[in-house]
Amino acid sequence: MSKKKKVGILTAGGDCPGLNAAIRGFGKAAIRDHDMELIGIQDGFLGLAENRTVTLGPRALSGILTVGGTILGTSRDKVNRMVIDGEEKDMVPTIADTYDKLGLDALVTIGGGGTAKNAHKLSKAGLNVLHLPKTIDNDIVGTDDSFGFSTALEIATDAIDRLHSTAHSHHRIILAEIMGHRAGWLALGSGIAGGADVILLPEVPYKLDSIVAAIEKRRKQGLNFSVIAVAEGARDETDSAALAGAQALVHSSKTPETKAAAKKAKKDLEHSMRENTLKLAAQLEEATGLESRVSILGYVQRGGIPCAHDRILATRLGTMGAKLVDDGEFGIMVASQEGGTTTVPLKEVGGKVKYVPSDHPWVKAAREVGTGLGD
Ligand code: F6P
Repeated sequence: MSKKKKVGILTAGGDCPGLNAAIRGFGKAAIRDHDMELIGIQDGFLGLAENRTVTLGPRALSGILTVGGTILGTSRDKVNRMVIDGEEKDMVPTIADTYDKLGLDALVTIGGGGTAKNAHKLSKAGLNVLHLPKTIDNDIVGTDDSFGFSTALEIATDAIDRLHSTAHSHHRIILAEIMGHRAGWLALGSGIAGGADVILLPEVPYKLDSIVAAIEKRRKQGLNFSVIAVAEGARDETDSAALAGAQALVHSSKTPETKAAAKKAKKDLEHSMRENTLKLAAQLEEATGLESRVSILGYVQRGGIPCAHDRILATRLGTMGAKLVDDGEFGIMVASQEGGTTTVPLKEVGGKVKYVPSDHPWVKAAREVGTGLGD
């Protein structure tokens, strides 16, 4: 009789609704249909480096479909630059060692583009890795959809709906800050669905004058309130150019020292802009004379039960993942493309960002109903 395949599973990066649905989808199919043994690794790659595991049998996988967050815990640690005892260390050899000690035949990682980059590093080190895509940002290259996004879209849309009635009652401008520091899918989708008057995205540097003009145009129509959906990474033209310059320096740095210094400079610059939405609200109040308020939706968008779409997506990708592991297919991400399930090599996904293209149908639709993008 051949030995059962032993598979480790972990969640890494920011949490989101649907992670447990994916663990369950993969786990149930792995155990029931493919006769595998499953162990959960706690707190992402950190838990793998530290060999912290839990058994994931049928009992542990039951009742978690609708539960938010991740039963395994998560962390944002990088496999090659993990902070251990206050020092950055390359933990790939340690992780490979734990993988062997645990007797794993495969490792399933659930995360976004950053996690895919870590997964790819482990794959290059010889581990059998398969990745499942999650993120509320929907910014993973190679997949049309990632679980977590649809739930967050519902939450952000609901928030914009609620902000409308209070903005209207008080004749105010309300800015809803929505997650998405690099890609604006969530702000764009919820802005369209919630009927925001202006939508600001990281991909479209905005001009203050253009937003003011959109608000004034509404005022001329007797509408003395406005709701603005602002992605947390949206910036005006000046700040966008400064960030692009800092990013270019990171790319052009030749030595590890200059690269580290350029990365730090970029991080500091981003940090100095973290209150951008509040600054914009003050600028709009001054320019229009309308009272302005900010609602930062924040982590509310990542919490709670997954919507039906995310549960289905996580189950579809998770169960397909179990089949692929059984077939011995590794170094890949399970992806959703044009309604079907497919695979994409990890090297095409890791560390990349799926930005909102300027000609995307959502962008066109927003413009065609008269929603300003601040450009
Ligand atoms: O990557 C998902 C995300 O929700 C981003 O939209 C947000 O910028 C980020 O995580 C914040 O994450 P944390 O504070 O947990 O590091």
